[in-house]
Amino acid sequence: MAVQRGTEPPFVVLGVGAGIAAYKAVEVCRRLVDAGMHVAPVLTEQAQRFVGRTTFDALASEPARVSVWEGDAPIAHTRLGQLADVVVVAPATADVLGRAAAGLADDLLTTTLVATRAVVVLCPAMHTEMWEHPAVQDNLAVLRRRGAVVVPPETGRLAGGDVGAGRLADPERIVDAVVQVLASRARSGPAGDLAGRRVLVTAGGTREPIDPVRVITNRSSGKQGHAVAEAARRRGAEVVLVTTTSLPVPAGIEVVRVETAAELETAVADRVGADGEGVDVVVMAAAVADFRPVATASSKLHKVDGPPSIVLEPTPDILTGVASRRRPGQVLVGFAAETDDLVERARAKLVAKGVDLVVANDVSAPGVGFDHDTNAVSILGADGTVTEVPLTSKGAVADAILDRVVALLASR
Ligand code: PMT
Repeated sequence: MAVQRGTEPPFVVLGVGAGIAAYKAVEVCRRLVDAGMHVAPVLTEQAQRFVGRTTFDALASEPARVSVWEGDAPIAHTRLGQLADVVVVAPATADVLGRAAAGLADDLLTTTLVATRAVVVLCPAMHTEMWEHPAVQDNLAVLRRRGAVVVPPETGRLAGGDVGAGRLADPERIVDAVVQVLASRARSGPAGDLAGRRVLVTAGGTREPIDPVRVITNRSSGKQGHAVAEAARRRGAEVVLVTTTSLPVPAGIEVVRVETAAELETAVADRVGADGEGVDVVVMAAAVADFRPVATASSKLHKVDGPPSIVLEPTPDILTGVASRRRPGQVLVGFAAETDDLVERARAKLVAKGVDLVVANDVSAPGVGFDHDTNAVSILGADGTVTEVPLTSKGAVADAILDRVVALLASR
């Protein structure tokens, strides 16, 4: 069946690697079709050992393909990549990740990955030993840097009765990720609704040194801040990400790695500028220490000397500083990590810090806040509005925040 670019429904290439989780790709295929997508399956040669192409033929929108040499399209090796709105690979095996990271194009799936400009959603699945191998993690980091969205594997039962990390994400999560990528594209149009805007995002927890080996820190992983930076980039913004983490960052985002609140403050001040002219939007997702040791010991404190008494001093409030230098039209977003009286405390921060939006998360709730791949937030506006975002991926939360930012930018 010939499908032209731009016709509805969205065109999704479903890549299937050779792993036992290939049987779950059948369910992913069915759910994508049920969600109204045109699904073109591409299996690797060896994937057929786990599941037959006839199964995909029966469920998908067009026949499954394996080789660049089949079908009657004149340039079959680029057709699918060019038509795709999203390429999702489930399972993405260690082999497929390696070939994709190296830019190899030795079968139809890897050729499609090289030939496409669509967002690539990778859903790794493999045995724990393979998943944890540095080569696999490095390949994934490379692919992330190039803009791939990764749906991490889950921990659970694997083939052969082993238990560990590496089980393909639930098909529902995979389909959600595809839906989210498409929704983000649809909202922002081809150029992106943040095109021409400069966005600064902070992420991660600061580390305040006590001595050369010990720090005061918090549980922030940086995932939420990174998700905001990635979503802003996808939506066309020029993005600077100031992060305390070593998480991989897609190409096209400028990264400033920092450790302490003081370093983060300097990095933010440099980018925002004395008159606020440096950026259009600031999103402070970082969990900045409120207190730091007054002095850092120059050598390791030893246990035999007894417990040290550490005198703390408050850190400057970076967001309040940015707000005091804001220029007209600039949009400032703070976060509030709370365990009680969420909305009241978040509203007090919104007023005290003088920002446009505060994203409040109840970090005592399951799946919410620190280190999870998911979050649930209330986005409070200075105009009194509240947008509730129920538990979802941090990427979806990022897009909900940016929707509010885009609306504010347009109103100024
Ligand atoms: O990183 P993850 O594991 O993905 O977790 C995400 C998160 C829970 C860290 C994130 O969603 C979040 O809530 N970030 C802000 C946490 C926080 O420090 O909240 P706060 O209520 O202490 O601070 C309020 C705001 O002031 C924040 O925007 C903070 O960046 C800013 N702040 C705080 C202290 C300080 N000295 N300067 C600041 O600018």
